[in-house]
Amino acid sequence: MGKNIDTLCVQSGYEPENGAPRVLPLYQSTTYYYETPAEMAHLFDVPKDGHIYSRISNPTVAAFEEKMSALEGGVGAMATSSGMAATTMTVMTVCTAGDNLLSLSTVYGGTFNLLSHTLAKYGVTTRMFTPDMTDDEIENLIDDKTKLMFAETIANPAMVVFDFDRYSRICKKHGILLVIDNTLATPCLVRPIEHGADIVIHSTTKYLDGQASCVGGCIVDAGNFNFDGNPRYADFYTPDESYHGTVYVKEGGRAAFILKARMQYMRDIGACMSPFNAYLTFRGVETLHLRMARHSENGLALARALEKHPMAEWVRYPGLENDKYHDLADKYFKGGYSGMVVFGVKGGKENAVKFIENLRLFKQVTHIADSRSCVLHPASTTHRQLSDEDLVACGITQNLVRLSCGIESEEDVVGDVVQALDSIK
Ligand SMILES: Cc1ncc(COP(=O)(O)O)c(C=O)c1O
Repeated sequence: MGKNIDTLCVQSGYEPENGAPRVLPLYQSTTYYYETPAEMAHLFDVPKDGHIYSRISNPTVAAFEEKMSALEGGVGAMATSSGMAATTMTVMTVCTAGDNLLSLSTVYGGTFNLLSHTLAKYGVTTRMFTPDMTDDEIENLIDDKTKLMFAETIANPAMVVFDFDRYSRICKKHGILLVIDNTLATPCLVRPIEHGADIVIHSTTKYLDGQASCVGGCIVDAGNFNFDGNPRYADFYTPDESYHGTVYVKEGGRAAFILKARMQYMRDIGACMSPFNAYLTFRGVETLHLRMARHSENGLALARALEKHPMAEWVRYPGLENDKYHDLADKYFKGGYSGMVVFGVKGGKENAVKFIENLRLFKQVTHIADSRSCVLHPASTTHRQLSDEDLVACGITQNLVRLSCGIESEEDVVGDVVQALDSIK
């Protein structure tokens, strides 16, 4: 099979054998039958030789995992029940009480909450850094309990593009994992592993599914990080008593991270992807490359139209030549800049609300990255509880509107936004 990303979207993950179904089969089964106790016992020792129970693994989910690993260029993947579950289990695989991690402060609000509040209750704390901090300032946040750096390829909705070369250099210097949420770029536009990421996570709920039908997530292991002997990660090279003395670097080799994530945290937390969601999302990914091209074309056309519109106070889209992150995006993005466009409506919240009411094609939903165009006013919905001061700290103003361009015709997408702005009275 070719290595081209378009071919990987269409063909990877399931290769039918002679006489087998042409389309990936849906194995809607919790359990698997074995004739002898010895066969089952063997699987408890060497789980990769088969399936024991669908909380740990399932053939349809495994095909989806293989596709995700191929797309991101990893050595293994684990599908999860949601994007939040992927982030949570990634952190748990390396952090225990007393440990800390670094995160770019502009990450998606749900992730910000998880890292800064929920995980702190379990003794894992997050040191936030901002894009304008110097390398020295960031490195001063790292100590011998720091286990990873977390960021998004492109931040939702702050639109900050991650500077892979700069931050991966810091991670390598200190021997800590670089974890990237690649949800909004997808491997069709950016492959973080090629730029130094050690772990890539996804909310597959977004572009990978593409049709707003399945909540899901995935963790991909790049297989490039050497855990063996690194004192920050002793759990990887000492026996795990909870799993009959397994030593993950020995048993998993380059895929030690994903083996530990599955055999410790999927086993114990159980936030697995259902076979049906894996089946649908697998089918969704088969057209991802085509959709990302159209999402990106529509995103750029819309951003250009907004830039010229008298009712748009400002526009954030990394494809615009004068965007703060354009040079970085040009360096790392291939074939487009994705479908999310963020802008400020002149006249504050009142006009932002009028604008949304005037939209016809764009539907108001708590979602992005659907094949249908959608819109959200963060200040009155997802970020409603924050004070004006806190909103500014998150980069969200009262007039900010988040647009997610679908794959409808460019003329209709741009036309709807322009007519809705023109109609503000
Ligand atoms: C960038 C990003 N990461 C993670 C998540 C969380 O994913 P999920 O909703 O699938 O749990 C979201 C959700 O909007 C997101 O936008």
